[in-house]
Amino acid sequence: MLKGKHIILGITGGIAAYKSVVLLRLFVKAGAEIQVVITPSGKEFITPVTLSALSGKPVISEFFTANTGQWNSHVDIGLWADAMVIAPATASTIGKMANGIADNMLVTTYLSAKAPVFVAPAMDLDMMAHPTTTRNIEQLRADGCHIIEPGTGELASHLTGKGRMAEPEDILAEIERFFYNNKSLEGKKILITAGPTVERIDPVRFISNFSTGKMGYALADEASRRGAEVTIVSGPVDISPSERNIKVINVESARDMLSECEKAFPDCDIAVMCAAVADYAPKETAEKKIKRENSDRMQIELVKNPDISATLGRLKKENQLLIGFALETDNETENALRKIKNKNLDLIVLNSLNDEGAGFGKDTNKITIITAKDDIQSFPTKSKREVAVDILDFIETKLHPQ
Ligand code: C5P
Repeated sequence: MLKGKHIILGITGGIAAYKSVVLLRLFVKAGAEIQVVITPSGKEFITPVTLSALSGKPVISEFFTANTGQWNSHVDIGLWADAMVIAPATASTIGKMANGIADNMLVTTYLSAKAPVFVAPAMDLDMMAHPTTTRNIEQLRADGCHIIEPGTGELASHLTGKGRMAEPEDILAEIERFFYNNKSLEGKKILITAGPTVERIDPVRFISNFSTGKMGYALADEASRRGAEVTIVSGPVDISPSERNIKVINVESARDMLSECEKAFPDCDIAVMCAAVADYAPKETAEKKIKRENSDRMQIELVKNPDISATLGRLKKENQLLIGFALETDNETENALRKIKNKNLDLIVLNSLNDEGAGFGKDTNKITIITAKDDIQSFPTKSKREVAVDILDFIETKLHPQ
């Protein structure tokens, strides 16, 4: 899909630079012509020999090539490129780009490039969360860069948090989509529920679950890239969409989520129920913090939450599609088919807790799609971003949204 495209691959000095080799391979395999530009500290992590062998071009790092004195023109490279991809982008390079500090070949080339620029940040969680980094990334967004969000997981420091560079396959997918320019959902309105719900017991305690919202937000991003007008009704999560035009309505409880969905649904073409809605909520929420009693037991009376997907299933019109998710531990297919019927769904995405790599908090998922017409398709473990692509491809080709 990238046949003949000229791509500058910018590599900076972070541990994730080893993944740039894989990204370079993927780009070359996809038919792109790659010019690597690496910062001096990038070379501490990965050698130019590997990169030039794989790209088939000398790697550029300095303004002048030392032994010949040849000037490397950042202007020419900038104009040659159809895209510039900086992966990994360290906090330092992001800061320099945001502020025009052109003290190396990579940032100078960035300032000369007229092509779209993709930035895949990678750093330790505290650097990632620092207001300086947040500010600089926002500045790059405002300057028109495409930020390829880092994932959450174990970092080189052995700490766990947000800062892992997006996987090379995901970066490739993002660039391919950019050139492919698939606007197949243009004009469609999509409602997505995501994250957990939080059911208050008192002002400081609640019932909830481990859902992080990653799958719902990945779907929202992919639908938005395809041109859809997307609204997420989201329980409390720590993430935000990567795409700019997505509307997020934040809610806490299942009842709040239902009321927002009821408002948005009549106007929608497709609704995807990705949220992990708590099945029960405390009958009453205490106004003041409940005090510990002398008794060894305490009881909270729970009442059933409304089923949002089933409610929308009852409201659903001919031209609307309703998609559900199911997390099952046993009799998976049978239970999924029952839910399709009971909730009047068109399709259910089954992720099984029996599968490694599927489920809450992970960056990957392994799904089986089952339709109301008993069409079943299983997919291998993939990143949630790729799973979102599979789900939307399936919906578009098999259900033909009207
Ligand atoms: O019945 P179960 O909870 O397994 O069904 C899962 C599907 O139903 C998911 O799509 C989930 O978002 C949706 N759901 C809902 N409201 C509930 C419970 C589940 O929308 N109260």
